[in-house]
Amino acid sequence: MYLQRRNRILRQSPAIRNLVAETKLTPDDFIVPLFIDEGSNIKTEIASMPGYYRNSLDITVSEVKELWSMGLKSVLLFIKCKDELKDNTGKEAWNKNGLMQRSIKAIKDAVPEMVIMTDVALDPFSSYGHDGIVKDDEIINDETVEALVKMSISHAEAGADFVAPSDMMDGRIGAIRKGLEENNFTKVGIMSYSAKYASCFYGPFRDALDSAPGFGDKKTYQMNYANRIEAIKETLMDIEEGADIVMVKPAMAYLDIIREVKNSVQVPVSAYHVSGEYAMIKAAAKMGWLDENKAVIESLTSIKRAGADLIATYFAKDAVKLIAQ
Ligand code: PBG
Repeated sequence: MYLQRRNRILRQSPAIRNLVAETKLTPDDFIVPLFIDEGSNIKTEIASMPGYYRNSLDITVSEVKELWSMGLKSVLLFIKCKDELKDNTGKEAWNKNGLMQRSIKAIKDAVPEMVIMTDVALDPFSSYGHDGIVKDDEIINDETVEALVKMSISHAEAGADFVAPSDMMDGRIGAIRKGLEENNFTKVGIMSYSAKYASCFYGPFRDALDSAPGFGDKKTYQMNYANRIEAIKETLMDIEEGADIVMVKPAMAYLDIIREVKNSVQVPVSAYHVSGEYAMIKAAAKMGWLDENKAVIESLTSIKRAGADLIATYFAKDAVKLIAQ
């Protein structure tokens, strides 16, 4: 048989495949989400996220040192707020001595070069488990944005490098940027969850922080997963308002959105490989139905190939070990 072109030439050995691989994962690709709890020497495995833990701050600090030594350079902080501190205003979110603010300081002191990103949304602090202030069963936009600005400034004061608003209120990026400017935080970045969908894949995360909505769902603020064009609209508006990095979330069921966003913007694009995506791989691996390590690397490579410059993932440590092999 005579063939002018044989595509298998480039696939014939691992060395050749590696030479022509278009996408390679590196530790610089990853953002490590961390769940932080009050107390000391506490390490609680999250039932729906086997192998992932909610740690007290002392353990978190050791963990961050280990992450840095592995070449992981950014963490995304989430805290579990005590029930008695939750209310409808979410005011614990901007308490100068709150767990988030103490955590930012402690991590900065221990590993000054680690890039600290912080989740900005009211749900862990809300007695309703919603990302905003509730009035007459509705999540009200403008007052919530004011709260998010206070929260962002308090994170900046504590030493955060990036605030990461994950709430999907309208106008919050512009308001946060203005708040940071007015308070002289000219070096603090905004990583906006720009295209964040109302997704069932956040279920395990809500177990981790005990932050499931007490009534209804998040569909009046998070996006409808039926929509693609809307993701571009949201993302372009966030950039216009001052976002430095934009995000698509979740990742694996939204690879088309990641690519479309990547093609539409001139800022770094991140993707959040969320808790449910972690749980699915873990569950299938536990049943013996999937090879966990292969599923992890294939998933993360696909997310990067789709266009993600950065990936927030609970598999960051595993991935760094696997790509070093
Ligand atoms: C808070 C927030 C959520 C996640 C990140 N920030 C939950 C939600 O919006 O309900 C989900 C992360 C994950 O599932 O891994 N607004």
